[in-house]
Amino acid sequence: MLDIPHVRSVLAEHYDLTPSPELAEEMKDIYDKMDRVVSPADWAIYAPYVKAINELKKKRNAVILGHNYMTPEIFHAVSDFVGDSLQLAMKATEVDADVIVQAGVHFMAETSKILSPEKIVLMPDMEAGCSLAESITAEGVEEMRAKYPGAPVVSYVNTTAEVKAASDICCTSANAVQIVDAMDSDTVIMTPDQFLAQNVANQSKKKVVYWPGSCIVHELYTADDLRAYREMDPEVKIIAHPECTPDVVAESDFTGSTSGIIKWVHDNKPAKAMLVTECSMASNIADELPEVEFAKPCNMCPYMKKITLEKILYALHTMEGQVEVDPEIAEKARLSVQRMIDLSRKLGL
Ligand code: 13P
Ligand code: SF4
Repeated sequence: MLDIPHVRSVLAEHYDLTPSPELAEEMKDIYDKMDRVVSPADWAIYAPYVKAINELKKKRNAVILGHNYMTPEIFHAVSDFVGDSLQLAMKATEVDADVIVQAGVHFMAETSKILSPEKIVLMPDMEAGCSLAESITAEGVEEMRAKYPGAPVVSYVNTTAEVKAASDICCTSANAVQIVDAMDSDTVIMTPDQFLAQNVANQSKKKVVYWPGSCIVHELYTADDLRAYREMDPEVKIIAHPECTPDVVAESDFTGSTSGIIKWVHDNKPAKAMLVTECSMASNIADELPEVEFAKPCNMCPYMKKITLEKILYALHTMEGQVEVDPEIAEKARLSVQRMIDLSRKLGL
């Protein structure tokens, strides 16, 4: 576990991180991207971290890959590339850098390391996990194979390298239906998200059998809650992530990956939108879409929220938090991830 008092004392020795309204004003162009959701006082606190991180990135030839669930100051002020899991995995194969800082959760950093073994991949907090990745092991995959002999295993990228290595191909929420449909078998095993699997089954001709994992953020939404909200506010457009239950998806106007959700809101510009996903999503696009009123509620991912500007700066300063994957496992896992990327590129996803 990161020792935060130690982190703070190391950073205090090397950087002036006192809140600075002057620096905040100097970096106003960055603040303009989030001034609807971040207060001027908070920006004055973040500004010295942003300056230090962006300078250190140049020195280390580092890039920050930021997931759509990062808080606005990470998403807008220090990330070089932002996107959903599929886009970040693809970006990891393309970036010309010595160091990748994964502003996301551990399975994303592992995926970057699997795809770019020659690069240093830094995870600002190793405890940024994922309830889905924790729900299954490679033995679980073998159990499913024994139960459904001959059926290919499609594993969500929200899995450990060991699980990816034990699978035939990976998928993300952006390509799950297409990947399952492309399998040369009538029955397809999906791990570990039971709800993503059920939602895919509703759109596919395949028989989908699945592992009973779930996302602790998306499983909390209920169709009853959404119906009640829609009754109170009939104008609202409800947009859900496919990690939600099929009932919630049926109650929604659109379902897609985190980037799919962002694109839908951009394309459709509803007067009111409820993003049935992690809270930072609405905050990150609020400034770009002033005409859209974002309805609460939302649920917070406690793992994604472990990543902070302070921990990113500390990782870049000390180069601690390097993600390693056993080379034998990485080689097998790479096949599963690369098959997904190749198929996605072929399908133009
Ligand atoms: P996306 O692939 O849609 O970005 O989702 C990742 C995730 O962890 C959602 O909970
Ligand atoms: Fe995992 Fe859910 Fe958090 Fe995404 S939102 S990282 S699936 S726990």
